[in-house]
Amino acid sequence: GTGISYSEYLVLKYLKENGEKSEYEIIIDGLDQRNISSAISYLIAKNLIKSTERKKTTYIVTDEAMGYLKDGFPEEKLYKYLKNAGRAKLSDIKTMFKDCFGIALSNLAKYGIKPVNGELIYRDTRLLDYVEDLKKGINEIISGSVPDAGIIDFLKKRNLIREKTNIDRIISINENGLKVLSGYTGNQYSGQLTSEMITSGSYKNIVFRPYDLNMRPEEASGGGLHPLTQLIRNIRRIFTEMGFTEMHGHFIEYTAWNMDMLFIPQDHPARDLQDTFYLDSDRLPEFENPEIIDLVKNVHENGYKSYSGWNYKWSEEEGKKIIMRTHTTVNTIRYLYNNRNPPQYIFSIEKVFRHESVDWKHLSELYQIEGAVYARDANLSTLKWLLREFYSRLGFNKIRLIPSYYPYTEPSMDVVVEINGKEVELGGSGIFRPEVTGPIGLKYPVLAFGLGLERLAMIYYGLTDIRDIYNSDIEWLKNYKIRLY
Ligand code: PHE
Repeated sequence: GTGISYSEYLVLKYLKENGEKSEYEIIIDGLDQRNISSAISYLIAKNLIKSTERKKTTYIVTDEAMGYLKDGFPEEKLYKYLKNAGRAKLSDIKTMFKDCFGIALSNLAKYGIKPVNGELIYRDTRLLDYVEDLKKGINEIISGSVPDAGIIDFLKKRNLIREKTNIDRIISINENGLKVLSGYTGNQYSGQLTSEMITSGSYKNIVFRPYDLNMRPEEASGGGLHPLTQLIRNIRRIFTEMGFTEMHGHFIEYTAWNMDMLFIPQDHPARDLQDTFYLDSDRLPEFENPEIIDLVKNVHENGYKSYSGWNYKWSEEEGKKIIMRTHTTVNTIRYLYNNRNPPQYIFSIEKVFRHESVDWKHLSELYQIEGAVYARDANLSTLKWLLREFYSRLGFNKIRLIPSYYPYTEPSMDVVVEINGKEVELGGSGIFRPEVTGPIGLKYPVLAFGLGLERLAMIYYGLTDIRDIYNSDIEWLKNYKIRLY
């Protein structure tokens, strides 16, 4: 005979008592939705219940629609504006409405308000009523009911809602089911074969559930690379494709390398305890390249060729303090010190540390994308091209280069970009000063840049808070989307 499991028994009993039901209506104590669904599938396969499938359409409200609900439809805003002003020039409306201009204008035209001689003139129409109907429709969908077909159609055309179809099973117990239910003793069936059943031989009296090869398994989400790791890999690939070699450095540095070799004076504010993490250590590593001590002392105190230097007494003790590196430009200077044959095209994507308070656009531990070109014909145009090329290969074309200052570059440029409507600095760049390159024997220009990775990731992944990158919010990690501007 046909054995049934306890959950199948419960479902049969429920159907006998409650009559025809939609699968999703059924609530049984002790069974969750998955148990119920799987029991139903088995009962259908065993021909103990009757089932008809019904397509059920539901709608999902898009972010755009939610925005309109909150701030008004573009055409509604334009209409209200017109109502107030009487008339308005298209060019003025365009500046006022920006991205929404086209949508506002075309939808207003449907209500008979069309541009004449570059102008819109107010006319009383039923537009506001219709907009109210649309808002009502959206609210209905949000609350789980279904608005009129006309409204649905319109909302779909404007991409304000998305359609989703579910299959709903309408089930009821059949004659076989009633028979099996009345004969159910609770021990005719087992889903699992145990070693005990084999040794005792009891398996011979047990009806086993057949495998249902059509059953859909639970959806499993696999592991994946963190979005930041993916971005790092992308950037590494881009620089590699452009002929750059990756260099690697250390988290911990002597200030002599991190700062002095880059001609940063010892009283520079960035060296302050407030900005830099200094390390206390009685186990100092041996100082690499002790010859740089004299070299930096000389250039800081006396300058290089016609450049005057900083005119102060350089302190070796200060230079031998150890810190968490504040930038990866230290990687560049060390690499070039050890590889003085041109040309060099180098980059690194590594962490830096800053004694900084953390907020929506600041981290105290962040990645820098560092790069440099040491080549005979390198010039500022090359650097500008390089920065724009790099960002555009990432799919990002809207950057601005503005004049800036760093003690080790002249000229210097910052890369800025708009995030959340505010201009945010993405990084610095410039051409190394002769005081940096001269004393270590570099004879051609060195173009250098240091760019923030996480701020780029914000734009790339559409985040409004930089801290979200390091938030282990699994939902975000599963659902993030890449936004290319
Ligand atoms: N090191 C600078 C910073 O950390 C960026 C920079 C790199 C500027 C190279 C000029 C040249 O902000």
